[in-house]
Amino acid sequence: MPFRLLAALAALVAMPALAQPLTVASPDGRTVVSVFATDDLAYAVTYDGEPLVDRSRLGVVLSDGDTLGVGIVGLDSERQSRDETWEQPWGEVREIRDHHNEFRVRMEQAANGRRMDLVVRVFDGGIGFRYEWPEDGGLGAFEIMEELTEFRMSGNPETWFIRSQEENRYEYLYEQFPLSRTANLLHTPLTMAFGDERGGEGGPYVAVHEAALVDYAAMSLQKIGRAALQAHLTPWSTGVAVYAEAPHRSPWRMLLIGDEAGDLVTNYTMLNLNEPNALGDVSWVEPGTYIGIWWALHLDEWTWGSGPRHGATTENTRRYIDFAAEHGFGGVLVEGWNLGWDGDWTANGDVFSFTEPYPDYDLEGLAAYARERGTRLIGHHETSGSAPNYEAQMDDAYALMNRLGVRAIKSGYVDWSMNFPRRSGPGVAPGETAYEWNYGQYMVRHYQSTVEAAARHQISLNIHESVKDTGLRRTYPNLMTREAARGQEYNAWSEGNGPDHIPTLVFTRMLASPMDFTPGIFDLDGTERRRINVPTTLAGQLALYVVLYSPLQMAADLPENYEPHLDAFQFIKDVPTDWEDTRVLEARIGDYVTIARQDRQSDDWYLGAKTDASARTMDVALDFLAPGRTYTATLYRDADGADWQGNATAYTIETREVTAADRLTVPLAPGGGLAVRFAAD
Ligand code: NOJ
Repeated sequence: MPFRLLAALAALVAMPALAQPLTVASPDGRTVVSVFATDDLAYAVTYDGEPLVDRSRLGVVLSDGDTLGVGIVGLDSERQSRDETWEQPWGEVREIRDHHNEFRVRMEQAANGRRMDLVVRVFDGGIGFRYEWPEDGGLGAFEIMEELTEFRMSGNPETWFIRSQEENRYEYLYEQFPLSRTANLLHTPLTMAFGDERGGEGGPYVAVHEAALVDYAAMSLQKIGRAALQAHLTPWSTGVAVYAEAPHRSPWRMLLIGDEAGDLVTNYTMLNLNEPNALGDVSWVEPGTYIGIWWALHLDEWTWGSGPRHGATTENTRRYIDFAAEHGFGGVLVEGWNLGWDGDWTANGDVFSFTEPYPDYDLEGLAAYARERGTRLIGHHETSGSAPNYEAQMDDAYALMNRLGVRAIKSGYVDWSMNFPRRSGPGVAPGETAYEWNYGQYMVRHYQSTVEAAARHQISLNIHESVKDTGLRRTYPNLMTREAARGQEYNAWSEGNGPDHIPTLVFTRMLASPMDFTPGIFDLDGTERRRINVPTTLAGQLALYVVLYSPLQMAADLPENYEPHLDAFQFIKDVPTDWEDTRVLEARIGDYVTIARQDRQSDDWYLGAKTDASARTMDVALDFLAPGRTYTATLYRDADGADWQGNATAYTIETREVTAADRLTVPLAPGGGLAVRFAAD
């Protein structure tokens, strides 16, 4: 039934007294949300008739002492349903079905008549609810100090988490404990398994996250009971969480629900909760694979700053452009091209120029050379966290990049989580600086302003150290990818990420958005600087191009490290970054994952399998392939005896003819993986 017709059937129900909970079920009936809109606002969730979230409070505390949602009178409610399918301009899947039932409760404070709505949407496998503050609801400008929103989990699910409000933003390794034993303040997405409290296996699997974080503070989750969580809004330095003016609304508080861990990965509730594309024609947003002057900087072979080891020289960049042209890469990232890197660049936020190159970098000439050779420069803007300095220059900087034929910019915000300078606005006198969280409302507004400014100049963004994503790429398709997690760079200069990281990331961080993890390291052995080996085999690095979705995907290693392995490098050249379809074939959180994706431009399929430190045998049915067709499968697999510790580069390439009726059974080495291209004959 077309959406318009369904909307016309929306029923307005008068509710002078709301003695009973109001319920709304998912289209398949498996998920039921009950809303208690009498006196104090609350909700509860069941899945297949079993409690999932016990009765949990809702509401917001304002700076004037009022608490919206406590002491309420329900005014009325409205139901509507939607069933429509929309197309992503690029993505992990082309078409997404938005099928949900919606329930809106209008309420007012008994004491003063201030109004608030609660909107609940229930999908097959997902829930979203948000607060809305109507323009005529008696609020005007208001300040939110706290949300009362709770998630009182039924039972004590196994939980995968990183800690919130630590100094390093989101760049931590995941920990796994029953919810009762986690840290006290947790980032989202927060992933849980309800089936077996000790083993970490068994559905239902649930992830708590938020969708459409716009002009609001990011939500962390605060432990308030053994298995109970409360939304924690990242405050401004003034102590206020959100400065708002009605009409305003909160992001969607969201639960993804799946029977299998893999169901969380192919769950598109977050995108459905975001607004449609606001940019119109986005044919200038180009997915693709890029190389760059990057890994050598992290290995400390070259420097970002000027001097004898300056990486971003005209000569080095021409060599990278030649390599990109020879191997068909669409972009060449160059870090350290602009003035401001000298000294401790992590503290240079206010001295970076985003338009002036170092004298040994011929910006105009290199941009033209790249275009001549059929590729493009990718811009780089490291802000070191200074939003004021960046905002003052970004329009000019994006205009310059656009004029030079640049289509994408990687921006960066290297600064401690709570150290982002602000020089105007609440509580800041002229000449003073306040310091804000990376994921408070101030920086959420900043990231939003960069995305909108970049769109005006037809520039796409890849934001590193940003606030987590909440699905905004649907509305702003030029917000292509982010880091906002612990990426490959940690394997260059820290104790490393460990072999569990990838099979955990897929079910945690990756639920939020594409990630610019920067895969493709072929030189995997430890060095003096890189104290450990990169914790995967070479075949495992190839698998990342399928396992970790990003529309912009880097081939991160140095050209000279690819030269000896051009046969394996062929997979990186072939693998697309824009997909028709995605299937999770095998999964155990933190242990292993196998994902198959269909190319959006052809009938070819690709498969990536990744295991942790344990060797295992991947065994999957190939029934995702088109029935009746034959495919030439090229397998890039771990050779016998391969091991991330000591024999990481041992790989074998073999070809087989396969059909949808076949199974594929392939051993994976410790820390290993498998990458397969299925070329349709
Ligand atoms: C941190 C980013 O994650 C990394 O990729 C980049 O090289 C540095 N910042 C410098 O901007």
